[in-house]
Amino acid sequence: METKTIFEKSVKDRIGYSLSECEIEKRIEDIFPDNILRNNTPNLPEVSELDAMQHYIEISAKNHFIEKGFYPLGSCTMKYNPKINDIVNILSGLTNLHPFQPEDTIQGALQIMYELQKDLAEISGMADVSLQPVAGAHGEFVGANIIYNYHKNKGNTKTKIIMPDSSHGTNPATSALHGYKVIEIKSNSDGKVDINALQQVIDDDVAGFMLTNPNTLGIFETDVKEIAEIIHSVDGLMYMDGANLNAMLGYIRPGDIGFDIVHFNLHKTFSTPHGGGGPGGGGIGVTEKLADFLPYPLVKKERDRYFLNYEIKNSIGKVHTFYGNFLVMARAYIYLKMLGEKGLRRVTENAVINSNYLMVKLKVHYPVPYQKDVMHEFVASGERFKQYGVKTLDIAKRLLDYGFHAPTIYFPLIVHEALMIEPTETESKETLDGFIEAMIKIAEESETNPEKLKNAPTNTPIGRLDEAAAIKNLDIKFTFYNEIT
Ligand SMILES: Cc1ncc(COP(=O)(O)O)c(C=O)c1O
Repeated sequence: METKTIFEKSVKDRIGYSLSECEIEKRIEDIFPDNILRNNTPNLPEVSELDAMQHYIEISAKNHFIEKGFYPLGSCTMKYNPKINDIVNILSGLTNLHPFQPEDTIQGALQIMYELQKDLAEISGMADVSLQPVAGAHGEFVGANIIYNYHKNKGNTKTKIIMPDSSHGTNPATSALHGYKVIEIKSNSDGKVDINALQQVIDDDVAGFMLTNPNTLGIFETDVKEIAEIIHSVDGLMYMDGANLNAMLGYIRPGDIGFDIVHFNLHKTFSTPHGGGGPGGGGIGVTEKLADFLPYPLVKKERDRYFLNYEIKNSIGKVHTFYGNFLVMARAYIYLKMLGEKGLRRVTENAVINSNYLMVKLKVHYPVPYQKDVMHEFVASGERFKQYGVKTLDIAKRLLDYGFHAPTIYFPLIVHEALMIEPTETESKETLDGFIEAMIKIAEESETNPEKLKNAPTNTPIGRLDEAAAIKNLDIKFTFYNEIT
């Protein structure tokens, strides 16, 4: 049955809630001038509460989400976010706060932020942390800004940032936005930074080095100390894209191996929901020599009192309204407190074990070009299926028929027909085995019945979409009946 929009389900004069006559309504005309009052009632759907509930349940059931099934979207860490995070976050003590409240009345909220800053600093080996950035890319942007201001403050005029070809797309984008020239170096045959290639491009013009670690091949960069020595020898700064931190928690601290700056994706590693571009949390940590450049305000503590510190000597200023996404921070805080040190180590252990288990079971069917030091995700290739006319896209679509979300595909670019698989630490062995079974069946189908894959998905509420047309002819505006004439 075709799904209608909630506006198409609207029935004139049907009511969801009715409120008793409101006195203030009578005074509205007295309060506001005529020219800002609307002449018509707004175009709201007229439905009952149940109609509304059924509508949204119906459309959500068409979607794929982590509570419905496995979601191994590489690089995106689609892990289960414990519901306790949400339960705590609807407490009125957190939701009814206003950012303009006097500090004395928000001591609890400031304590949450303060302790989160401290915990993230401890986890990453950094001196201080700002929670203001609201996405990973935003954290990187702030990091590039700190690199720029650090050099400006010293009178350096450096123009280049180096990064490997395995870096996440946001790394070159944020550096370039700051006017830096991005120097890309090739990875070596293990999929890691090629030190020789680095040595060939290093000079005094280098402002910094950006490294995603583990990188987008899911591989741990083992030569960070050597890279840091080279970069620091020209007074460059080491930036770690820490979006993949769930492969390191409690085992490796970026600050201990030579990084000067790191960002955290709270909405990945620390189990806060992904918000389709926001609200997220992309906090950023820095070493002692950069602490004075962090955005203000930072939450500080003096005796028993928490306060917002705006007096940071070389601060790059504010990078978001107020303090960032507070309820995202509160979720990450609960997650950290629930797990504790031991729990965080187990997150990493399980993320890495799950990924390696899948890789070993699947690599016979889907070759994995880079296998050494694979951590929480790995990248397989669907190249061999091209001989049967099957593309990686077809494999991804067919997985939906088996009830699994597809892995990330065609990224990173250095693997042809890439399938980037990240199981995360929250999935059980039974789920992983089910996924392995489906992937093996699909590999067989590619040879015996490729048409089945090319037409997939066929068991889902909506079949294969024309994605190119959807992008080129984007139309997401609903036209109301009274706008047609
Ligand atoms: C390695 C890496 N870096 C950066 C980002 C960007 O993070 P965000 O989407 O929050 O901007 C991501 C996103 O998942 C990522 O996987």
